[in-house]
Amino acid sequence: MPIEKVGVAGCGLMGSGIAQVCAQAGCRVVVREVSAELVDKGLKNIEKNLQRLVDKGTISDSIRDQIRGRLRGTTDINDFRDADLVIEAIIEQVPAKREFFAALDKICPPKTIFASNTSSICITEIATATKRPGRFVGLHFFNPVPVMKLVEVIRTIATDPAVFEEMAAFGTQLGKVPVRTTDRTGFIVNRLLVPYLLDAIRVLEDGTASIEDIDNSMKLGCGYPMGPLTLLDFVGLDTTYYIANVMFDEFKEKRFAPPALLKRMVLAGWNGRKAGRGFYDYADPQKPRPMQLT
Ligand code: 3HC
Repeated sequence: MPIEKVGVAGCGLMGSGIAQVCAQAGCRVVVREVSAELVDKGLKNIEKNLQRLVDKGTISDSIRDQIRGRLRGTTDINDFRDADLVIEAIIEQVPAKREFFAALDKICPPKTIFASNTSSICITEIATATKRPGRFVGLHFFNPVPVMKLVEVIRTIATDPAVFEEMAAFGTQLGKVPVRTTDRTGFIVNRLLVPYLLDAIRVLEDGTASIEDIDNSMKLGCGYPMGPLTLLDFVGLDTTYYIANVMFDEFKEKRFAPPALLKRMVLAGWNGRKAGRGFYDYADPQKPRPMQLT
């Protein structure tokens, strides 16, 4: 079944990026938020990203206009009724996701495929809020979605193998490289990335090195595009803290346990770039300055 119309639930950082890449790939996209203000904010973010592509000469004005023409914002979940695929990127809370999909299940025909962009919540737990667990997958994108080439395609024990392959092909249609994985917390990327990020905090906490030296080590010594503490600020400390707790709960392994410093920074609201401070102070976003934390 060709995927022509996509519904995207949530127009935050991830949802707006997902809506953008779907529209760029030629799909008609309806993106939903809970208020008109949030729809507006998300669409403005997409507009900014498309303009960036025009300014760089990657796409022409007319292609930008065509992409724009395929995108529509809404606050009404009923606008997903004729979607071939609905991708959910709402708040990372199990009850909110289950409630959303239970409502969606009543609106969409049985053929519609449901996907969650969750980074750590058990897909099976969300899928069982619907009567179509066979047509339910995880599609996990990476920030910034228009740039990062990967999409993790996740099957549960109930996912129909044909639907799983269809979603992997859809990942390719979006210009991404799909990797296939199963419903194990953290999937592939966060299973490997989160312990690394938490270890970087421990290296700082125990006084082994400074913020800048930790970041420079991994950037210049290993060729990573960002050092781990810069990446933590980019992803969001609250997001990482949430994922780490879910992973610790699943695996009961110390390497997934959030370090004390991370917890305190989240409690203080120092959640990284979006909060203006995290491991760095972003008073001047062009010149982040390391914070005094230890
Ligand atoms: N949106 C769209 N495009 C963006 C962008 C954004 N937010 N930020 C940068 N870009 C584009 C730029 O326009 C530029 O495009 P070009 O090469 O065609 O000119 C390209 O990305 C490179 O950007 P810059 O030259 O400005 O800056 P960098 O070279 O430093 O790249 C970066 C920025 C792509 C963010 C790079 O630093 C990077 O890859 N960082 C690591 C990101 C990462 O690891 N993401 C995964 C996080 S984990 C996750 O999302 C999972 C979740 O579950 C936690």
